[in-house]
Amino acid sequence: MRQILEAIRAGASGDELAALPLPESYRAAVVRRDDVEMFEGLESADKDPRKSLHLQDVAVPELAPDEAYVAVMASSINFNTVWTSIFEPLPTFGFLDRLGKESMWGARHALPYHVVGSDGAGVVLRVGSAVRNWKPGDRVVIHCNYVDDQDPSAHDDSMLAANQRIWGFETNFGGLADLAVVKANQLMPKPAHLSWEESAVNALCNSTSYRMLVSKNGAAMKQGDVVFVWGATGGLGGYACQYVLNGGGTPVGVVSSPDKVELLHELGVDAVIDRKAANYRFWSDEHTQDESEWRRLGKHVRSLVGEDPNIVFEHPGRQTMGASVFICARGGTIVTCAATSGFLIEYDNRHLWMKLKSIKSSHFANYREAWDANKLIGQGRIQPILSAVHPLDDVGEAAFQVHRNLHEGKIGVLCLAPEEGLGIDDPEFRAKVGEDKITLFRRHP
Ligand SMILES: NC(=O)c1ccc[n+]([C@@H]2O[C@H](COP(=O)([O-])OP(=O)(O)OC[C@H]3O[C@@H](n4cnc5c(N)ncnc54)[C@H](OP(=O)(O)O)[C@@H]3O)[C@@H](O)[C@H]2O)c1
Repeated sequence: MRQILEAIRAGASGDELAALPLPESYRAAVVRRDDVEMFEGLESADKDPRKSLHLQDVAVPELAPDEAYVAVMASSINFNTVWTSIFEPLPTFGFLDRLGKESMWGARHALPYHVVGSDGAGVVLRVGSAVRNWKPGDRVVIHCNYVDDQDPSAHDDSMLAANQRIWGFETNFGGLADLAVVKANQLMPKPAHLSWEESAVNALCNSTSYRMLVSKNGAAMKQGDVVFVWGATGGLGGYACQYVLNGGGTPVGVVSSPDKVELLHELGVDAVIDRKAANYRFWSDEHTQDESEWRRLGKHVRSLVGEDPNIVFEHPGRQTMGASVFICARGGTIVTCAATSGFLIEYDNRHLWMKLKSIKSSHFANYREAWDANKLIGQGRIQPILSAVHPLDDVGEAAFQVHRNLHEGKIGVLCLAPEEGLGIDDPEFRAKVGEDKITLFRRHP
């Protein structure tokens, strides 16, 4: 891989890259099948990704005709890597085994190790015989919607495909590695004005937020909508706030520290709630929610923006869903893609039906949505929310930071890229977009 990296840094042509030999093995962040019971009996918060994520050399798998090898310059930590590394809610080896039974190409994935990671930016090294739109040398980012496009169910909205998977979570050979194996229909052009690590952090969370808020498959936000965003400086929320501002809406961001309040103000979000400072306690005990706390939150939102939210951007789940359903405006939409604090949700259905609210589910994004979201990054209209960068050797610590909610925005991981700041191909456009805007989260202490 060193020879490949030198060639990429020297600006080798696609033909030159294609002529370089591929290694037999590569460096990758993995969890091991033998470890799946290592955290038995511990609370989720005590399960430590630093113990379960390992860096090891793994064999380069054979390439299927519709796939590409990508030299990964940088990747990022997503919450799904936290789930994989703490083996919750299930060990991901079950996903790999199921894929393994589907086809001869699927069988490559069922291994004693799982190469994790659902984001990546890098350079195409080889493409399979069926790939038409990409070639060696292309600088790309990778989205994580992994679909078998020969299945008819994949041909309306591909997120509805019967065998839709998330690459690097429900498949092997993910992005937290020096090499990745991806389907050609996961590739998108790398934004020319961004560094490798700034490019690598966007695809998963940016595309998810785009579908949740902008797409007709999500809440289809309109100009003027008030949008309540939980975790507004987190991976999803940091993009969600930008979509609301871009789309002529009013974001109400919720965070949990004064630093994050300040960061949101700098991002242009005026209405901010510090949930810790306000000491919201939506559950009076493990089994009982406190409606007076929902009402207090509703009043808080009205005091900030004068009305109830047309859209509530939900992902914390059990802890917040009762409040989310309550505070949403009559006829509004609660759009949800996750349940970080617990999957079994409880809300008062009277507040939903009597006020004709809807709960809309959303999951990642189809290729078109991911492409359109990536285009906005390329146009400098949505900024990367990279806040910290770790080398691949330190992947366990990076995942630990996300697990413990010690981070803001997105954590980037340098894979082949030896240092930050490389890969910027269009410095003039970068200057036009504005260094300050691009690096807002990175500069924030
Ligand atoms: N379905 C999909 O396609 C999809 C895609 C991406 C992510 N997800 C899921 O969505 C969730 C969030 O992902 P992310 O990348 O945004 O994670 P993240 O970077 O950790 O941000 C989430 C934020 O939510 C807030 N939060 C956490 N627990 C909370 C609670 N109990 N009550 C209120 N706020 C809470 C925290 O912000 P404050 O502490 O500042 O309030 C945190 O920073 C994860 O479960 C992830 O797996 C799903």
